[in-house]
Amino acid sequence: MRKILINDGIEESGLKMLVDAGFEVNTNKISQENLMHELNGYDAICVRSATKVRKELIDASPNLKVIARGGVGMDNIDVDYARSKGIEVINTPAASSRSVAELAFAHILTLSRLLHLSNRAMPVSGNTSFDELKKKCAGGHELEGKTLGVIGMGRIGQEAMKIGIAMGMEVIGYDPFVDEITINFGSAKFNAKATIPCTSLNELLITSDFITLHVPGKEKAILGNDEFSRIKKGAIVVNCARGGVIAEEALLDALNNGTLAGAGLDVFEGEPRPRQEILTHPKISLSPHIGASTAAAQEKVGGELASQLIKILG
Ligand code: 3PG
Repeated sequence: MRKILINDGIEESGLKMLVDAGFEVNTNKISQENLMHELNGYDAICVRSATKVRKELIDASPNLKVIARGGVGMDNIDVDYARSKGIEVINTPAASSRSVAELAFAHILTLSRLLHLSNRAMPVSGNTSFDELKKKCAGGHELEGKTLGVIGMGRIGQEAMKIGIAMGMEVIGYDPFVDEITINFGSAKFNAKATIPCTSLNELLITSDFITLHVPGKEKAILGNDEFSRIKKGAIVVNCARGGVIAEEALLDALNNGTLAGAGLDVFEGEPRPRQEILTHPKISLSPHIGASTAAAQEKVGGELASQLIKILG
């Protein structure tokens, strides 16, 4: 019987598909250290971003046939090395696009109405009067008519663009691999189509009121000191992509010197232990890497992953 290790969890319906297909499935997490000794007993491992599948683990697991990533980013897996060893590496690139884009907008709306401040201030307000809190948390902005700059015009970036247009924002995008993008969106009853040209990064920096990044992890940050020196004053930046695509030191400087009005972060340079200055900064709206963690996204992830595994190993 083929054995599958689900090491970072899988949604119930995907698990059921695998069990119904006759696989022996272990959903008990094995620590990174013990994987070195135990993974070789499995035909496939399913991970999210927590478990690392690096060269050493691959070398220690010659029986492994498939590495399955429930999600988009494969930066926790030595993909090329695994493939060079004949191991199939799969992921679910489209399943969580909407979920991530909606979280980016949750941060945008939070920051534009200072909800991150009121959520921190109201429970510990003590003797502070309601009127004082009201003053502290006033001065928000509407999104309508503002410019949204989307860095990375792939699946997630396009979902963010659709939401931006629906909010009445002027939407622009930057992507070194794209000239323009045409997106269809709406609901069952109302449909629309928009073509969005790709602008330069500089143009996006100097014109955008809100900037959201939807790019894979990078060696070098896309937004650092140089970019913050050109960015529109009072802009808000959101990173639901990967820690490191915004240089955190430069981000803190830009927040502290008034260049930026706020930042929304779902991912961090020091993940899973973000630095204290980031966690306690009054201009930062925080979430703990939950971009793909909606019921709908995880249902899609689980189903897609199970279908692929059944096809490959069945
Ligand atoms: C991804 O790359 O799919 C997202 O960052 C989500 O990662 P997670 O599955 O570990 O939440």
